[in-house]
Amino acid sequence: MEISLRNQVAVVTGGSSGIGSGIAKSLASAGATVIVNHSSERSRDEAQAVLKEITDAGGKGITYQCDVSKEDQVVKMFEDTVSQFGTVDILINNAGIQKDSKFTEMTLDQWNAVIGVNLTGQFLCAREAIKEFLRRGIDPSRSVACGKIIHISSVHEIIPWAGHANYASSKGAIRMLMQTLAQEYGANKIRVNSICPGAIQTPINKDAWSTPEALNSLLHLIPYDRIGQPEDIGNLAAFLASDLADYITGTSIFVDGGMTTFESFSTGG
Ligand code: BGC
Repeated sequence: MEISLRNQVAVVTGGSSGIGSGIAKSLASAGATVIVNHSSERSRDEAQAVLKEITDAGGKGITYQCDVSKEDQVVKMFEDTVSQFGTVDILINNAGIQKDSKFTEMTLDQWNAVIGVNLTGQFLCAREAIKEFLRRGIDPSRSVACGKIIHISSVHEIIPWAGHANYASSKGAIRMLMQTLAQEYGANKIRVNSICPGAIQTPINKDAWSTPEALNSLLHLIPYDRIGQPEDIGNLAAFLASDLADYITGTSIFVDGGMTTFESFSTGG
């Protein structure tokens, strides 16, 4: 059994770092041409480094700067991708940020920034991707499905998170966005799913693993007793995007070392 994404074009938002970079590399190694999206000039070098790893390993792709919270930029990213590569087969809706704050001190800017990238960004990219999937139609030389969307959500899709109301709200909403799209476009053979990562060792949660004390307290939340790596998510993303997962749609898959078993209850309750 082989996971193949040959002849397929994948847009990975936030592909320049963290989980996104792991997914970009996994999809490329399964044969997809990958658009490694990054949000700003500042992340250009990182995106190019990810692309270099992809091409050094024999894969294909480009980098593309676009702030997913901006409608005109998202529309242009999809237009440019289609004009360069013919179509888009896979969208990995990954770009995400945290702006943490105690709730009573959370500014509207912090709220809007997180909702803008994590939720509105996923809406805008999904809309443009689905329009392109429908325009192209099913092409069996690419995939038995018309298109695949994978939302990168979080364990905080279901675990409330004090001090992170904006982030947890955005992730909870992604579940409904994902399921609604799966329902609305199932008959068109568009598959829509979410991956919900737990604690993955990336820059977004550096404070939670960069000292031995922090890592030790983080591991108390993870029955499997290790922090996750971007390739743990990349492996599942490649499978979910492939035809091996053709009957999977409308679901959230948790990749969290057991975090959602609520380990604190192993000795209490
Ligand atoms: C957050 C991380 C956090 C993890 C587990 C993720 O969605 O981005 O900062 O470590 O959830 O709590």
